[in-house]
Amino acid sequence: MVLRKFNRNSKFLITGGAGFIGSNLADFLLGNGFEVRILDDLSNGRKANIGELKSKYDFEFIEGSIQDIDFCKAATKGVDYVLHQAAWGSVPRSIKMPLIYDQVNVHGTLNMLEAAKENEVKKFVYASSSSVYGDEKSLPKFEGKEGKPLSPYAITKKVNELYAKNYFDLYGLETVGLRYFNVFGRRQDPHSTYAAVIPIFVRELLQDKAPTINGDGSQTRDFTYIDNVIEANLLSCLAGKEASGEAFNIAYGKNITLNELYKNICDLLNKDINPSYGEPRLGDIPHSLADISKAKKLLNYDPKIDVFEGLKRTMEWYVNNLSEEVKL
Ligand SMILES: NC(=O)c1ccc[n+]([C@@H]2O[C@H](COP(=O)([O-])OP(=O)(O)OC[C@H]3O[C@@H](n4cnc5c(N)ncnc54)[C@H](O)[C@@H]3O)[C@@H](O)[C@H]2O)c1
Repeated sequence: MVLRKFNRNSKFLITGGAGFIGSNLADFLLGNGFEVRILDDLSNGRKANIGELKSKYDFEFIEGSIQDIDFCKAATKGVDYVLHQAAWGSVPRSIKMPLIYDQVNVHGTLNMLEAAKENEVKKFVYASSSSVYGDEKSLPKFEGKEGKPLSPYAITKKVNELYAKNYFDLYGLETVGLRYFNVFGRRQDPHSTYAAVIPIFVRELLQDKAPTINGDGSQTRDFTYIDNVIEANLLSCLAGKEASGEAFNIAYGKNITLNELYKNICDLLNKDINPSYGEPRLGDIPHSLADISKAKKLLNYDPKIDVFEGLKRTMEWYVNNLSEEVKL
């Protein structure tokens, strides 16, 4: 496995480690005996994620914001690899409050790049997003053919990519951008008003309520199971210089409609509830499907878990860990 290729003394900084993706990365690395430091301001992530990790492992948690360069410098000191996940997510929320998205996602990421450069980290791997494809209609999406961004969130991710490339070109900081496509899995928060579609469906169904599907449900998404994303992050740390300054689609490479997704979740949760249908959401794209050949070639990325297996594992987790909490 990829882990064997790391020096056992490697030290990782995970920003946004209290969040969905960051806490899964931390759990995996700590569980495999690596040293991990987390920087998170707990603005969106779940304190429970840090508590759960603390109950299992010994690691350093810095509660602070990437908007503060001093926290970024302290957090990157002595670190080999940065896995930068901290950001404000959600397209609809970014349309409501664009300023905070610029402050955290753009300025915060620039702070992290500057701190990583100063502390000479080996690799700066960061979360970008499929939203950078914007209004580009052709499918599948491949790197180099992006359209106009449709939301402040998408703009922040695009700017991140520009800065990351610039830091490699100008200063030699080895950056790798990962354009995640609809990630799902254990620990994805169902409680937020701006929760993602899978946790929303689960939250409503576990309370025997009918979830709302925005639009007619024929939209497609390339849903990507969390373990594939963990693998992509680790492979990026080890990638050759030809991957530096670049951004890669990280997905499974197949898409399903929201209606299919809904039916699958109902079957797994043993629920027979018809969804209601609402207005399409502003800033949403109708279809999404990734071409993952660039990541396959330059990162050796080879996702193992498809959406159906991923949903099975995820539903088991929600039922075992969140059933009571969700019903409250
Ligand atoms: N989940 C997805 O499907 C998806 C898709 C595309 C891209 N992404 C990107 O992946 C990354 C992780 O997403 P996630 O789903 O785990 O989100 P999340 O909201 O669960 O986690 C983000 C974490 O960042 C932290 N954070 C926010 N602002 C911060 C700040 N100023 N300083 C320090 N920490 C801060 C939050 O507290 C939270 O713990 C984000 O950059 C997101 O934009 C996610």
